[in-house]
Amino acid sequence: MRTVVWDGDVPCVRMVDQRRLPAEYVQIELRTPEAVADAIREMAVRGAPAIGASAAFGLALAAARSQAETVAALWQDVTAAADLLRVARPTAANLAWALDRMLRTGEAARAEGLEAVSARLLAEAQRIADEDVMINQAIGRYGAELIASKATVIHHCNTGALATVDYGTALGIIRTAHEQGKQVHVLVDETRPRLQGAKLTAWELERYGVPYEIIADNAAGYFLSRGDVQAVFVGADRVAANGDVANKIGTYMLALAAQASAVPFYVAVPTSTIDLGVASGAEIPIEERDSREVLALEQAGQPIAPPSSRARNPAFDITPHALVTAFVTEAGVVRPPYHRTLADAVASMQNAPA
Ligand code: MRU
Repeated sequence: MRTVVWDGDVPCVRMVDQRRLPAEYVQIELRTPEAVADAIREMAVRGAPAIGASAAFGLALAAARSQAETVAALWQDVTAAADLLRVARPTAANLAWALDRMLRTGEAARAEGLEAVSARLLAEAQRIADEDVMINQAIGRYGAELIASKATVIHHCNTGALATVDYGTALGIIRTAHEQGKQVHVLVDETRPRLQGAKLTAWELERYGVPYEIIADNAAGYFLSRGDVQAVFVGADRVAANGDVANKIGTYMLALAAQASAVPFYVAVPTSTIDLGVASGAEIPIEERDSREVLALEQAGQPIAPPSSRARNPAFDITPHALVTAFVTEAGVVRPPYHRTLADAVASMQNAPA
C-alpha cells in the first residue's frame, strides 16, 4: 500500500484520505499543487515523510500542468508552487527538505529546456518516494534488534505506512519485529486530539496481524510504572542538531514517564528529518491547530465540553535529547553524544552511493 502515488495519465497525485480511516479506505485525486497543499494542511495526508513526498509530487505536478512556453516562465510556476507548499505545515522537516531537493534538481536541468525540467522533477519525486520505502525498511531492520522476544512496547501517534510512502518508521520497526516472529505486543496511545493512534495505527496493526490494545494517552505512565512495558517507540517531525525531538503532542510526557521507569525511549527517523540547521528544540516552530480539534468530540451523542469552552491545541511538543535513549535511522542506531553522532549519520547518508 503506497500512501502517495503519481498518476501520469491524468496527471495527478493520488493519496489515501487519512481523515476517513478507519471507516473507509478512499483515495483522493489531486490535480493542482494548490490541492496538494490543502491536503497537507487539512491532514488528508500527514506524517513527516508522507508530507515530504506529497510536496515533491506537488512540485512535479506544478511543472506537468504549467502552460509556460519558456524555461523562465516554467521556473516561476515551479517556485510559486514551492512557496505555497512550503508553508502548508510548519513543523515537519521533511517538507522543506523535499522541496529544496526538488528545486536543486530542477535548477540543474534548466539549461536543457522545458521538458527536461519537468521530466527531472518527476523523476526526482519518484526517487524521493522510492527511497523513503527503502529507508524505512532499513530503519525497521536496525530497530527490530532493540526489541526482545515477547516484548510489550508503547507506540505514539501514527508512524506507519500511512505516515510515510510505505512501511513506516517506528511502526515499521514493530512490524519487522513481528515478521521476525518476536511476538511483540503493542500498547497503542490513542493520541488525542486527532486520534491518529486509535484510528490509523490500530487500522495498520490489524492489517499486519500485530497484537495490540489501545490505551488512553494518560494510561501510559501506569503501564510503564508497573514494569509492563519494555520499550517506547515514536517517530519525529523534526530533530534538532542537539537531538531535541519535535513530535506529536504527548511525546514529551511519554518520554518523561519512560525515563522515570527506566524504560528505553527510541525515536525512529530517516536522516531527512534531522535538521542540522536548528541548534535545539527551542528553534523548532510548533504548529497550533484549530481548537475545534480538541472540543468537537462527542461522547454518547453529547459534546464533551460546554459550548462556550475555549481550548489550546499545540500539535507537537519538544522532547529534550536527554530523554532519548537512541535514534534509529537508516544509517543505524545513533546514541549520544547526539550533537556529534546525528551529524555523522546525516553525513554518512549524504555521502552514500545513490
Ligand atoms: O500531525 P501529524 O499526524 O502529521 O503528526 C505525525 C507525527 O507526529 C509522527 O509521529 C511523525 O510525523 C513521524 S511519522 C513517520
